[in-house]
Amino acid sequence: KMKAFIDDLMGKMTQDEKIGQLNLVSVGFDVTGPVVSKDVDANIRKGLVGGVFNTFTPIAVRKLQEIALKESRLHIPLMFGYDVIHGHRTIFPIPLGLSASWDMAAVEQSARIAAEESTADGLNWVFSPMVDIARDARWGRIAEGAGEDPYLGSSIARAMVRGYQGPGNDLTKDNSVMACLKHFALYGAAEAGRDYNTTDMSRQRMYNEYMPPYKAAIDAGVASVMSSFNDINGVPATGNKWLMTDLLRRQWGFKGFVVTDYTAINEMVAHGVGNDAQVSALSLNAGVDQDMVGEIFLKNVAQNIKSGAVSKAQLDAACRRILEAKYRLGLFQSPYRNVTQERATSTLMKPEFIAAARDIARKSLVLLKNERNALPLKKTGSVALIGPLANRQRDVIGNWSGAGDWKQAVSVEQGLRAAAPGLKITYAKGANIADDAQMLERLNAHGGELELDKRSSEEMIREAVQVAQGADVVVAVVGESQGMTGEAASRADIGLPGQQLELLKALKKTGKPLVLVLMNGRPLTLSWENQNADAILETWFAGTQAGHAIADVLFGAYNPSGKITATFPQVVGQVPLYYNHKSTGRPYAGTDKLDKYKSRYLDVSNEPLYPFGFGLSYTTFSYGKPTLSKTMISPTETLEVKVTVQNTGQFDGEEVAQLYIRDVVGSISRPVKELKGFQKVMLKKGESKTLTFRIAPNDLKFYNNDLNFVAEPGDFKVFVGGNSRDVQEASFKLADR
Ligand code: IFM
Repeated sequence: KMKAFIDDLMGKMTQDEKIGQLNLVSVGFDVTGPVVSKDVDANIRKGLVGGVFNTFTPIAVRKLQEIALKESRLHIPLMFGYDVIHGHRTIFPIPLGLSASWDMAAVEQSARIAAEESTADGLNWVFSPMVDIARDARWGRIAEGAGEDPYLGSSIARAMVRGYQGPGNDLTKDNSVMACLKHFALYGAAEAGRDYNTTDMSRQRMYNEYMPPYKAAIDAGVASVMSSFNDINGVPATGNKWLMTDLLRRQWGFKGFVVTDYTAINEMVAHGVGNDAQVSALSLNAGVDQDMVGEIFLKNVAQNIKSGAVSKAQLDAACRRILEAKYRLGLFQSPYRNVTQERATSTLMKPEFIAAARDIARKSLVLLKNERNALPLKKTGSVALIGPLANRQRDVIGNWSGAGDWKQAVSVEQGLRAAAPGLKITYAKGANIADDAQMLERLNAHGGELELDKRSSEEMIREAVQVAQGADVVVAVVGESQGMTGEAASRADIGLPGQQLELLKALKKTGKPLVLVLMNGRPLTLSWENQNADAILETWFAGTQAGHAIADVLFGAYNPSGKITATFPQVVGQVPLYYNHKSTGRPYAGTDKLDKYKSRYLDVSNEPLYPFGFGLSYTTFSYGKPTLSKTMISPTETLEVKVTVQNTGQFDGEEVAQLYIRDVVGSISRPVKELKGFQKVMLKKGESKTLTFRIAPNDLKFYNNDLNFVAEPGDFKVFVGGNSRDVQEASFKLADR
């Protein structure tokens, strides 16, 4: 049916109208790239626009759709996209925080709510999930993904696609939104963590470590893909035929359409692979279907066809894929998808969504340290609430916060006051996050409204110390501003910015219990903080309900259960640092300073500050030794691993039990550990549970030197524990047959 409909429609389309479908323009509330689209209404009338993004609300969307339906020759509906990354109006934790929940139901629910809200607000397409594996904390966009692990990243990719596209991927449903897998591919492997930088990588590494989450989203039925800005082994992703056609469509069987990132085709000129006409042809021939904002297809494809650089068939294929997406969205039958002001009013930020945002935010918080019973806090007595982020509503909703209104977000101060009216809370800012005006202007480019306190640093610290001296406990809310993370926000130094560390050192000298509440979108270097603070709670940018969620954890109404999904280094010189590294021929695990000819640094150990999967609770858990259903399995057998976990502390709590394997000998060197399973379990105080993990045949496979997906017979280790470092071990053999 779809084919006949589109054949018929394409039979009526002129070449220019076909090229028009390949054109995605940005108009409206946001500017998310370096140029803006012009003459949008006129181009819609001429049939030269396939889709629009950065516009939402029933009124705004209806207005543009009406032009397409009533004033363009063939009345082809537009599709409407937007960067709904961690919620639309109700904002959830940034994706790195969301991943720290290790709770797939929560992740899916956040995407489902985003789908409900964004569709009610006129959208039918979201530029999410972002599944780029990132191992370099300098990269600002590490905030937007699920961290460093391909297995966890794949689970999250699937959960998000399910949440957005709804049951059975039925996009005709008014409340299903088309997802967009991004950024294809390897955007997170930018050299030195500098945004948009080069990626050069072996195919084995790509296939084994970086591609699995993209593939998982494709297998889950994601309907669109966004190409990335970077080049891959010299060929820009946006003009990379191997990537877009051989791998994505031929090997993986992707049937949807590919949109570029913002002006990514035009940027191939700066990459140095051709002029406008050449890069336009390169990218269409590579398998890209739609050009985001660049209008380079609009200006070049007709000429490309004339010169023979592009075939009519290639244009038809791209146009057809866009029309198929519109068909799948039901836009030809229902171009407004029942978008009304009433529906929007009753859907956006409704109480159940807000309640879910609070619950999901609590699950994403990670307790990194807790000594001297610093936490939970008492609701009586007095607290010195210090720090530039303590009263910030704008920052808690984070970067890429869609249509979220920060004025409706809850700051830490608001959250604490609401939870503990009997507690005396005195606030002092203590330090600026950024202390030069130019930096501030850059950070505020997206409406940050971060203000520079003109007082001297000494004066601000003095005031904070005075407040601290008069209180029972100090809660210092420090970290990055939201604008320091996300796109074009790489940092060469990943410590606390501004004078915040100086502030903490001064607060420490007061001798008061020091509780740090961190806000940040990347692993930070926190060696001093880890040695000197009594407690550290990592809160990322926790969304609309951040302040309430943080208060729930600080006062013990919720026992923290999150675990970090990106390794925290001791110093920035260690990055990229990740748990699933190779052994090398000269592994160094110790701290013996004289052990010279090893793969190590002279000035710091190889250990992270906090390993992947790490996070504390107010209670403690102990793990028994894993027991295996067999010590030798055949290549088709599934191995069962049982482990008993006990809550040995004083509170009920949830634990994320993690299972890793190591393929001891391989035809290519294999990582020292690889996550292959996890379970989040609730254990009452004193309770034990025996968990069963299953290691299926595919879990033992990897891409070998010939890129065949194989399991190689021999010895394997299994590790189970509460993080990637502190584990219990067992071993088994994989037989030949
Ligand atoms: O979706 C984003 C992408 O992640 C980065 N560049 C701009 C796009 C659209 O806003």
